[in-house]
Amino acid sequence: MTVAELLALGATTLETREGLPNPHREARWLLARALGCAEAWVLAHPEERVPGAAADVYRGWLARRASGEPAHYIVGSCPFWGRQFTVTPAVLIPRPETELVVECALTLPRGERPRILDVGTGSGCLAVTLALEIPGSRVLATDLSLAAVDVARANACRLRAGVRFAAGDLATHLGGTFDVVVANLPYVSNADIVGLPVEILRYEPHLALAGGEDGTDLLELLLADLPRLLATGGHALLEMGPWQRARLGDVTTATGLLEVQRGLDHAGIERVLVLRKE
Ligand SMILES: C[S@@+](CC[C@H](N)C(=O)[O-])C[C@H]1O[C@@H](n2cnc3c(N)ncnc32)[C@H](O)[C@@H]1O
Repeated sequence: MTVAELLALGATTLETREGLPNPHREARWLLARALGCAEAWVLAHPEERVPGAAADVYRGWLARRASGEPAHYIVGSCPFWGRQFTVTPAVLIPRPETELVVECALTLPRGERPRILDVGTGSGCLAVTLALEIPGSRVLATDLSLAAVDVARANACRLRAGVRFAAGDLATHLGGTFDVVVANLPYVSNADIVGLPVEILRYEPHLALAGGEDGTDLLELLLADLPRLLATGGHALLEMGPWQRARLGDVTTATGLLEVQRGLDHAGIERVLVLRKE
């Protein structure tokens, strides 16, 4: 079959699935991935014949996508800060807003060989990115899920990032202090979790989403531990949902840490809380 015929088949197949806003775009994206080429090539070569093996892979992917499986799990990878990360259903698919944590971290003043801790590493997207973007840094990453740590370790290995891993509950199993602590912990509240799209609820790990009654359970536990974890002058960068900042209240009184920066998303909502230990 030709590129144009497969794209038409893809759009028709994906149109059967409710909640996919752009079946044509998704079909093009999947075909490009099956062919191992850029979407621009697919657009520019409608008459080209597609090898049978690639067409078979594409048809299989279409069926999975039409049944609701997230596209990044289907192709097995997701971009983050310009690199491809392997993703499996053991880890959350990295979200674009998490790049704001990296952006904020890179603007902080830092010494020669900063010690960085990533709590709840998932795919390892934050730990690996910071290790590669801050040469000389010493990065440690943790997650409660052993399966997630396996995925993160494989990503660190493939992308040649020097990251160490220590599975455990938040940072309770760790000694020593860190110059930077980053965390994108689960922050979906009990009320919001039932309203998540089926695609997320059915396929992404519950452990990566559920943040308790008002979404701040894990954030509060980590906040309480930050005075112990941070070196003097060290910073913590915590990603949170659009509603969590107000729910956390006066963090400085609770922890003795100074709130020094606010990471705002494109809508101007505070999504990254940046704290410093004086
Ligand atoms: C929202 S995901 C973020 C993953 C990754 N950092 C990212 O930004 O894509 C939260 C991660 O925290 C992990 N997690 C949940 N509870 C935890 C706990 N008590 N201790 C450590 N990690 C935990 C989950 O397994 C999941 O990988």
